[in-house]
Amino acid sequence: MTTAPGSAPLPGSPGSASPPAPAPIVITGTGTDVGKTVATAALAAHGLSEGLDVGICKPIQTGLSPGEPGDAHEAARLSGVRRVLEVRRLPDPLAPETAARVAGLPQSTLPELIDPIRAWLRAGGSASDSAATPGPARGRLDLVEGAGGVLVRLGTDLTVLDLARSLDAPVIVVARAGLGTLSDTELTVRAIEAAGLRCAGIVIGSWPADPDLAERCNLEDLPRVTGVPVLGRVPAGAGALEPDEFGRRAPGWFESGPVTALRRDAPGAQVTPAAGT
Ligand SMILES: Nc1ncnc2c1ncn2[C@@H]1O[C@H](COP(=O)(O)OP(=O)(O)OP(=O)(O)O)[C@@H](O)[C@H]1O
Ligand SMILES: [Mg+2]
Repeated sequence: MTTAPGSAPLPGSPGSASPPAPAPIVITGTGTDVGKTVATAALAAHGLSEGLDVGICKPIQTGLSPGEPGDAHEAARLSGVRRVLEVRRLPDPLAPETAARVAGLPQSTLPELIDPIRAWLRAGGSASDSAATPGPARGRLDLVEGAGGVLVRLGTDLTVLDLARSLDAPVIVVARAGLGTLSDTELTVRAIEAAGLRCAGIVIGSWPADPDLAERCNLEDLPRVTGVPVLGRVPAGAGALEPDEFGRRAPGWFESGPVTALRRDAPGAQVTPAAGT
């Protein structure tokens, strides 16, 4: 399933009873702990600052008990987003497929993850955000954070690439800043493109205040070796900011334009590629 583009039915394809769900942006990373959650929060805060209706989804959260705030809740707390969906939670801090096996629970399947996400996307601000007010439709930005790196198994033979394909979603890669990131990031972008998906760009998950030589050079080399732009850099320490300050500062962490290019102005609209990508 992971390496067979087009194997999953696209939203709105023949046989699908429901109207197509609007396409989100899938956030993956070159590995775990690269800052996907903080980068998702930063993109969300940037979207809110542009007046978009922003939602955050974590299809599978591992390593937490019921009631503990997960990645989606943490990103929502930092950014101020109110539309949040976590589909499934597994107790052990492991890759989702492993966590399900260790806990003796059934493996997640694509429909079990995708159907609630599509319903959430279709509902948008109208059903799940009590703050939504009637009026002209706002542009939308829905962010779906994967688990770990791009090939981590969410279930048997199931990765975040299968989710992105089923959702017709472009993918953003969160990457480390330092030595070693060039190969990790190029491999990740290649895996996305080999699956027939579009990589919208890279976000550096934690950019140091005083970057070393490798970090400065990587900024120049990442777009060259991957063929996709660096959309932004989240400063190291940003995850510890108070939400108000996080929200004020987040728009400045991105190159001008990418979030505007990623937004959808109407439900069901196609994502417009960023200029130069
Ligand atoms: N820019 C940042 N500022 C402050 N802390 C950060 C930043 N980026 C990452 N961190 C910290 O590094 C750790 C890992 O980051 P994060 O949880 O965002 O990784 P992740 O890629 O989402 O991992 P996972 O695969 O578990 O979802 C966390 O403790 C987080 O608070
Ligand atoms: Mg995370």
